[in-house]
Amino acid sequence: MTTLGIAGAGQLGRMMTLAAAPLGIRTVMLDPSRDACGQRFGDHLVADFDDLEAMASLAQQVDVATFEFENIPPESVAKLAEQVPVHPPAEALATARDRWAEKSLFRDLDIPLPPVARIDSQEDLDQAVREIGLPAVLKTRTLGYDGKGQKVLRDQDDVAGAHAELGALPCVLEGFVNFSQEVSCLGVRTAKGQMRFYDLVVNEHDAGILFRSQPAPGHRLQSLAEDYTGRVMEHLNYVGVMAFEFFCVEGQLLANEIAPRVHNSGHWTIEGARTSQFENHVRAVCGLPLGSTETREAVVMLNVYGERPNVTELLSIPGAAWHDYEKVPRPGRKIGHITLHAADMRRLQGIEQAARACLRNQRS
Ligand SMILES: Nc1ncnc2c1ncn2[C@@H]1O[C@H](COP(=O)(O)OP(=O)(O)O)[C@@H](O)[C@H]1O
Ligand SMILES: [Mg+2]
Repeated sequence: MTTLGIAGAGQLGRMMTLAAAPLGIRTVMLDPSRDACGQRFGDHLVADFDDLEAMASLAQQVDVATFEFENIPPESVAKLAEQVPVHPPAEALATARDRWAEKSLFRDLDIPLPPVARIDSQEDLDQAVREIGLPAVLKTRTLGYDGKGQKVLRDQDDVAGAHAELGALPCVLEGFVNFSQEVSCLGVRTAKGQMRFYDLVVNEHDAGILFRSQPAPGHRLQSLAEDYTGRVMEHLNYVGVMAFEFFCVEGQLLANEIAPRVHNSGHWTIEGARTSQFENHVRAVCGLPLGSTETREAVVMLNVYGERPNVTELLSIPGAAWHDYEKVPRPGRKIGHITLHAADMRRLQGIEQAARACLRNQRS
């Protein structure tokens, strides 16, 4: 019997725990929030992520450890790694949490990316704007998510004082990309180097926030995305699921960012793939063989923000699944997701329309 430690007990920890259970794998999650939404299903240590004693205690209770997100202090990751194997490796977390490190890695691995500059002062920013041009996006190097810690600079007026507006933190400036599509590639790798990839996922964001993900079997950029994602995973000696977000521009891929973990754009895999991203992550981390990543049928995932849908109506739609994260609803807070699946795209479209009618106060 394996016990898996997870730093973080939000919805990702929760869905990992739910995927681990049928495999006979118990989880212990560490999370500062007493009512974290994953704690109902596994053991829960209430502690801050920088609490090294708590990390040591987590390590004592588990055989192997993983993470729900990348913003775990490196000292805490090191503390865990002293006592148990941790996957993905510390270097993957360190790279993914820092946009400059991440983009430097893409460059080193010959993966195309938008023009980018490192910004530590307003002078750096003024200089970078002269080189990269406008529009451009200023992003904090660390701790950004869901479009937070970002500012789109459209004209010179936006440039003045922009660095201070983002708290004068270390930043990167990125050229604005007029993409035709945003896609993510979800890959999974075992310690022995076996890799599998899910079908490329087409993602729709609103104000930097993901609201719709749909796999696109047969996408013409599939093998290129797998090549880039595999390069990063191999370089980092990665174990577990990794998501790589790309911009599609003129039939090519430009790297945006990696997430060293299971990812929102892979939630559709629970119903829509032979093996979910959560199960494959657990399998990889616990040293088990990977399951098939094949897409089962037409499927789409919708995030739900702020308010629960009309669940009774939603579940009366054939092929609709509701995942409630059991969070207290607040405006703009992600509280669950809907997966819709059907035998073909035409049927799926009808189902999606019906499901959208059950959503209240949604962004789209
Ligand atoms: N350089 C860019 N050009 C155009 N759109 C961008 C750019 N950078 C980010 N965006 C938009 O904002 C979203 C969130 O940005 P991202 O860098 O992925 O940060 P986060 O960590 O918040 O996911 C992207 O998915 C994309 O829709
Ligand atoms: Mg992103």
